[in-house]
Amino acid sequence: MNKRDFIKNISLAALGTPLYLSNISSWASEMEHIPISTLAKQDDFWLKIRQDYKLKPDYINLESGYYNIIPTATLNSMMEHAKMVNYEGSYYMRTVQWDNKKRMAQKLAELVGCTSKNVIITRNTTESLDLVIKGFPWKKGDEAVFAEQDYGAMKIMFDQVSKRYGMINKIVSIPNHPKSDEEIVDIYANAITSNTKLLMVCHMINITGHILPVKKICKMAHKRGVQVMVDGAHCVGHFQFNMEDLECDYYGSSLHKWLAVPLGTGLLYVKDEHIDTLWPIFAEFKRESGDISRLNHTGTHPVYHDLSIENAIDYYNMLGAVRKETRLRYLKEYWTSQVRNHPNIMLNTPKEKHKSCGIANVGIITMKPSELAKRLMDEYKIFTVAIDYANVKGCRITPNVFTLTKELDVFVKALKEMAS
Ligand SMILES: Cc1ncc(COP(=O)(O)O)c(C=O)c1O
Repeated sequence: MNKRDFIKNISLAALGTPLYLSNISSWASEMEHIPISTLAKQDDFWLKIRQDYKLKPDYINLESGYYNIIPTATLNSMMEHAKMVNYEGSYYMRTVQWDNKKRMAQKLAELVGCTSKNVIITRNTTESLDLVIKGFPWKKGDEAVFAEQDYGAMKIMFDQVSKRYGMINKIVSIPNHPKSDEEIVDIYANAITSNTKLLMVCHMINITGHILPVKKICKMAHKRGVQVMVDGAHCVGHFQFNMEDLECDYYGSSLHKWLAVPLGTGLLYVKDEHIDTLWPIFAEFKRESGDISRLNHTGTHPVYHDLSIENAIDYYNMLGAVRKETRLRYLKEYWTSQVRNHPNIMLNTPKEKHKSCGIANVGIITMKPSELAKRLMDEYKIFTVAIDYANVKGCRITPNVFTLTKELDVFVKALKEMAS
């Protein structure tokens, strides 16, 4: 981002709901001339970002994967929205509620690189993807393909539609250290038959942080007439990608993860040609053909969370998408490079830089993941999450923009002590 864009972003943000207490704008001029790769290594800078958060001092938080704590500025904006809605009451709900929701969808569409006619705001990835799985026009004998490393909620929904409609699920397994993208593409390709209708693939596998070659998988699947639904729970606001460039048919994400929107906000992208064929979760009034709002009946819900999407995007843009991604990659590399060659430590995330971003998974060969997580918390005051299924045995390590390298030093020391 150049200086003009940076200043423009700040002023645009200032026009919307103010980002209360955000420090970023005050030292904008200090950082804009520093190369992003240099800034990624400068803890002084990230210490200032950390001050935008209220963090519990009791432990080092290396579990930003479930929910990203949101900056105080976004939290305050959300509370202002809640006060405003509470002040206006039904008047708000009956007048501008839907226009505002559309405006938020428009901003999201711009962020991810598609048009707003293909995007709706949901509560989370589970709602987005389960809508597609459940609402897909299945016929008996149809097949779906997905991986054992995929997220439980979606696998359970595939199981349910299998029982309900007599469709069949083919489950593949993704290696933690593939030799090439083609190896992954072939795994999915080999599971496709003439009955396959839908393939689900993680953009980033949540238990390892492994980024999969989604575009190549989409191209391969489309050649065989198979639609692709992408689980991007961890991707929006984490690393850069362009939705239309991925060529997928459906994409779901949780905005309360890396975009740091308040809890209960998600995104669903649906390609034009599938908008009319899906069955919505909640039936909607009649809509024109191709109107995605037919999939977005929600009933009354906390609309102020949706309104905060704009504030979270403003914060993200002020911080800078590339700046954030570069820092997250740097942090992951910082700790993984110190333990990757240790004989008793196994990294369950590929080494190649483009195959992961901020998340990685690590295990100690002789220790159960649950014991590793417990000892990290009890003995070193480091909070992580244990993963012990499919081919993944270890703890998922998820730093955030507020993580400092000195915290990762404590983690690396802990790993080495326990592994020796
Ligand atoms: C890969 C993946 N998919 C889906 C989900 C579900 O997200 P949510 O609980 O926000 O719906 C998660 C949550 O961690 C996830 O990691």
